[in-house]
This record gives sequence, C-alpha cells and structure tokens, in this order.
Amino acid sequence: MVLKFNHPGLLRSDNFIGGRWQGSASGAQYAVCDPATGDTIATVADSTAADSTAAVAAAHSAFDSWRQQPAPARAQIIRRWHALILEHTEDLARLISREQGKPLAEARGEVAYGASYVDWFAAEAVRSYGDIIPAPIASKKMLVTKEPVGVVAAITPWNFPLAMIARKIAPALAAGCTVVAKPAEDTPLTALALVALAEEAGLPAGVLNIVTSSREQVADVVGAWLNDGRVRKITFTGSTAVGKLLARDSAATLKRLSLELGGNAPFIVFEDADLDAAVEGLMAAKFRNGGQTCVCPNRVYVQESVYDAFAEKLVARVQALRVGPGDHEGSQIGPMINARAVDKIERHVQDALARGASLLTGGQRLSGGVTNGPNYYAPTVLGDANHEMELARDETFGPVAPLFRFRDEEEAVNAANDTPYGLAGYFYSRDVTRIWRLADRLQTGLVGINEGALAAESAPFGGIKESGYGREGSRYGLDDYMATKYLCQGNLA
Ligand code: SIN
Repeated sequence: MVLKFNHPGLLRSDNFIGGRWQGSASGAQYAVCDPATGDTIATVADSTAADSTAAVAAAHSAFDSWRQQPAPARAQIIRRWHALILEHTEDLARLISREQGKPLAEARGEVAYGASYVDWFAAEAVRSYGDIIPAPIASKKMLVTKEPVGVVAAITPWNFPLAMIARKIAPALAAGCTVVAKPAEDTPLTALALVALAEEAGLPAGVLNIVTSSREQVADVVGAWLNDGRVRKITFTGSTAVGKLLARDSAATLKRLSLELGGNAPFIVFEDADLDAAVEGLMAAKFRNGGQTCVCPNRVYVQESVYDAFAEKLVARVQALRVGPGDHEGSQIGPMINARAVDKIERHVQDALARGASLLTGGQRLSGGVTNGPNYYAPTVLGDANHEMELARDETFGPVAPLFRFRDEEEAVNAANDTPYGLAGYFYSRDVTRIWRLADRLQTGLVGINEGALAAESAPFGGIKESGYGREGSRYGLDDYMATKYLCQGNLA
C-alpha cells in the first residue's frame, strides 16, 4: 500500500466475514487506482460467490441474537461507531479523496454527512414504535409490531464511498437486521475502513460483513445473494439499468428492495427568481462532487427574458472554478472517477454541439499542470440545448451544465417532467402561487424550492418513476428495514 494514515487499522485489503478479516476464497485480488493519476494505490480481495455465500451464512447465524438485543443496546454500539467515524475524520477524508478523487474539503464534508445518518439511526433505533388498533369486538386485542426484515444486502456506489454505505448499514443495524455489503469496485477502501471502525465499536461477529470484488466478478458475487433465500432485502444505489436487473433477478425469492437509481434532474429558473441565488444554488447542486451525484441538475431551464443575464453570471462563476487533484490546496473539482466516465461526458458534449448547442465555456478534457492525469474534464456550460440531445435524456454525471430556453411555466413543467426519471427537481421563483403549483406538479421524489442543497439525515431521500423506490434517512428510512406484524388476541372476555 502507498497510503499512510494516523490509524493504520483503517487500511484493509481483505473481506470481513463472521468477525474475521480474510482474503477471497480464490486468493485473487484486484487493483484500486487513484483516479487523479491512474496509479495503483492498493489491492483488495477479488471475491467469488463462495465468499458472498459465506458472508450470508455469517449474517444469517448472527441475526437472531442481534435482533433480540434490546434496541438501546444496539443504539449504544451504533453511537460508538458514530463517535469513531468522527474521531477519524481526517484519515477517512484522505482515503475518500484518494480513491474517489473529490477535493479534501468535500471529503471531510462527506464524513460529517455520512456520520450524521449513523447518529440519526442510533436515535431512531429506540423509536420503532408499533400501534394498538381499536378492536371491533370487546373480546379481542389487536396490535401492530415492527420486526427487522432479516439479512440485508447493501450494494453501494463510488460517488460517496462513505455516506452511501453508512446510510444503508446504520438503519439496517438499528432495525435489528444483519448486513452483507459490497462496495463499488472503484472505491472499496473507505467502506472497509468503515467496517473496521464498526468492529472497533464492538459490533458482534457476523452482524456486519463485507466482500469486495472487481467489475468482472460482480455478477458472481451479487448473483449468489439474489438466489439466496436467506437474504431478505436488497438496498442498492446505482444505475436504473442495474436496479431493474436486481428487481428481476431477486423475484424468485421475493426480496424487499430499496432502489436509489439514476436521475435526470431539472433545474428551472423563472424570470421572477433571484438570479444570483439561482446561480449559487446551481453551482452548489451541479458542481458538487464534480457533477457526479444522482441529484445533480442535468437540465437547466431558464426563462427566455432572463436567459442571457443568467448565462453570463453562471459562466463567470464556472470559469472561476479550480480543477485539480483532491489533495491539492484550493481544488474545487477533482478528476472524474475513471476513463469510462470521461468518455461519456465527452460523448454528451460532442453530441450536444453537433445538434446545435453553443459552447459557453469548457468543453474539453484537461491535461498538464495540476491536471496532469487521465480523468480531468473542464467545467462546462452549454447554451441553446434541446431535447434531441443525448444529455437531455441521460444523466451526464459530470461537470456539464446545459441551458435550455423556455417561454412559460407550462412549457417548463412539461419539459422538466419529460423523462422516465424522477429523483430530484429544483426551481427558483419568488411567486408564492407558482411555488405551490410547481411543488405539486414536478414529478420527483425531492424538490428544491429556491434551494440547491437538499439532502439531510432527517429528510427522506429517494425517487419516483424509474429513479426507484424506498427512502433513506428520516423516520421513514427505518421502516424500509422493518416488517409490519399484526397480532390479534381473542377470547379475552
Ligand atoms: C447520490 O448521488 O446518490 C446521493 C447524493 C446525496 O446524498 O446528496
């Protein structure tokens, strides 16, 4: 390993199964690369179906005793995990930045963000109340209780290597479920570090298990979970295409599913908006994590009377963004995660330009100076975008803001909803009647009203339409890991 941290125990390369760190059954490993340079920074276990099945066996045998622990006892361990995450913020942030590429300041923010879900669900663990139902007959008592669903398989993405896995594992553990987890092949190191801290926090053996695998092995590793009836739930964040495969292939054992899938977020700026606030909101929402988030605005609709003024202000802000390696002082946009990501961004921009978009700034790969690496792309603004372009239909997942002109509210709403996706939507307006009309009409699970930063541990995160189902965070988030049981006692009179 070329990585060095204050807490050496955070650097792990093995799977964690049944309380033991162990290599893959095949002995295979794969390389984890720094997206800034393409250099190998570590090698980790390249697992097989045998490893993922062993993880399920461990989680299954730990389930009964974990679910029977009183909720405050589970909460106490989760709270210790939270404290350890915060204590090791600097190491975790460096690890995130190194394997994912985001600027260190953002990586520190991600540690705090992920930890906030752990803290939230430690508190929710003791609030999984049931109900008493007024019985229609005097001799009956009718009650509802909540039970953990069982073994949960968590499959997580590379864009937030800590926050996404934390906000799946924490509610599962709080509910009394046990977990098998597989982090994205590009960013396994942060997830392994997080599991090492959970072990240190005193989580019993088998309650949390993790296996890592390369892209080539993923079908084998996850396939074993899909076919295994002991896995009762899958929670996944990633593409809609993979989400559909998981839904189809888990049908044989009818698993519960939480799917946080792709988005294609509209961001609408009306002529009555505070334009400076709208630019700030767009900068925060669009360029966070280099544009690699599911809730990033993908289509920016600007009313024609303010289009030029908005475009001018936006271009000035985008041109001031500093691109560079995550650990470089002052970097605001890091490298993209890998070559495939940059290829897609380039394809979207070229396609848009060929179909009549105007290039307002950016529009090319960067190389040389601090951006001397394979995966840098210039923050880009395109004008005159239209719905024939590939970027109108598919999320670019990069630092590209395409501007579409619109005449009136009806045209903007119809264009915004003209997508199979429905994760996040944003709009800026100072007209209170319009605000409530739009809040109702936007077909998304999350709506930012004069606001570009939506997510919080206390709020339900998730989409509608082909952006998936299930919610993460908030009081609704615990329910996704619990089954509702009805108890009816008779003959009481
Ligand atoms: C995501 O990109 O999937 C999550 C973004 C967030 O939590 O804000």
